[in-house]
Amino acid sequence: MNEFRNDAPQLSADEKLNLLVEFGARISNELRLDKLLDIIAQQISRMLNVGRCTIYLKDTERNELWSKIAQGRGLEHTEIRLPLDGTSTVAVVARTGEIINLANAYEDERFSMAVDMVTDFHTHTMLAVPLKNNSGKVLGVFQVANKADGTTFNKKDEGILLLLATLAASSIEIAKLYQDVHVSQLETIYRLAVTAEYRDQQDTRTHLKNVSIISYLLALALGMNKKEAELIKNASPLHDIGKVALADNILLKPGRLTPEEFEIMKSHTVYGGRILEGAHSKVLQVAHKMSLYHHEKWNGAGYPKNLKGEDIPIEARILTIADVFDALCVSRRYKKAWKTDEAYQYILDEAGKAFDPRIVAAFKKIYSSVRKLYVNQTPQGPQAPAAPAAPAAPAFSAAENK
Ligand SMILES: [Fe+2]
Ligand SMILES: [Fe+2]
Repeated sequence: MNEFRNDAPQLSADEKLNLLVEFGARISNELRLDKLLDIIAQQISRMLNVGRCTIYLKDTERNELWSKIAQGRGLEHTEIRLPLDGTSTVAVVARTGEIINLANAYEDERFSMAVDMVTDFHTHTMLAVPLKNNSGKVLGVFQVANKADGTTFNKKDEGILLLLATLAASSIEIAKLYQDVHVSQLETIYRLAVTAEYRDQQDTRTHLKNVSIISYLLALALGMNKKEAELIKNASPLHDIGKVALADNILLKPGRLTPEEFEIMKSHTVYGGRILEGAHSKVLQVAHKMSLYHHEKWNGAGYPKNLKGEDIPIEARILTIADVFDALCVSRRYKKAWKTDEAYQYILDEAGKAFDPRIVAAFKKIYSSVRKLYVNQTPQGPQAPAAPAAPAAPAFSAAENK
């Protein structure tokens, strides 16, 4: 949310000064754009004692201004998008870089009621100032409405809002850059993962999506915080990156692998480990553990290092359940799809054998959500046949390796 409605009592001059002092410190420590905009909107609302503060940012690719507006406390936030070349007050401020101060919004032809109608709000007085960076480039607009004392916005309010916009500009620019880098990092990871899986699976995207969602839900059910769970979710698509090093005659072999071929297949874990070894980013460090250890088993019967129990990194123990479950639920050229309940039973049966019992217990908790994921997904693969009546455990090729 980057909009804030203020129900707080009026502040004294000292309290306002304290808020101003805090403002710089708080915003310079926040790199998450949504959170930063929240903080700015809250602080401005309190300092100017207004009914609403909305921050609009420019989206130059779409030639729009965007903001998220709350429709009452505890309700969903609505994303508002306005054309930058439109006639709305904030678009005019963004284009001209000038301040607009309206004493009676609904009677002023420059004001559009469109946003009020969507958000169930009545703007009486309104002040909008440009948010400019150090070079004078307009990044967006700060808009406040309805002073609590019922008066119109004066020159002093304009000055304070401009000052706050100037103080906030560099933090907003840094947070936007950080967000852009984060998004492009995730996109690169995802496309790299698709490349690795693409050679032997046509439904790569569905598999990667399912595995990352299940891993995320498992991490949360195990008590990890959202940040840790997101790292696991974002790293999980890379678990089979080592397959890029496997020859076609092994990876694409339609039938059962010979013991020698299976040994080669197993090396995709080691290759994955080498590809991601020594990474600096946290997400790639997690991906390294997943790719190297995702075929280890709780009882020590896995590979490549025959690690046992908690010696296997937790990230890999989580990923392996998500990966095996999804592999069982889809059809491949070498196997038919299992029903989700059959795959679920397999996961339960393997608690203490292939899988960490504590994570299997977490899987039990999230299974109803997991099941919903598969309701609208038709079985994938070349033929999409029905599940067998009595599925056999995945063996020497196929699900074991994918
Ligand atoms: Fe996989
Ligand atoms: Fe694998």
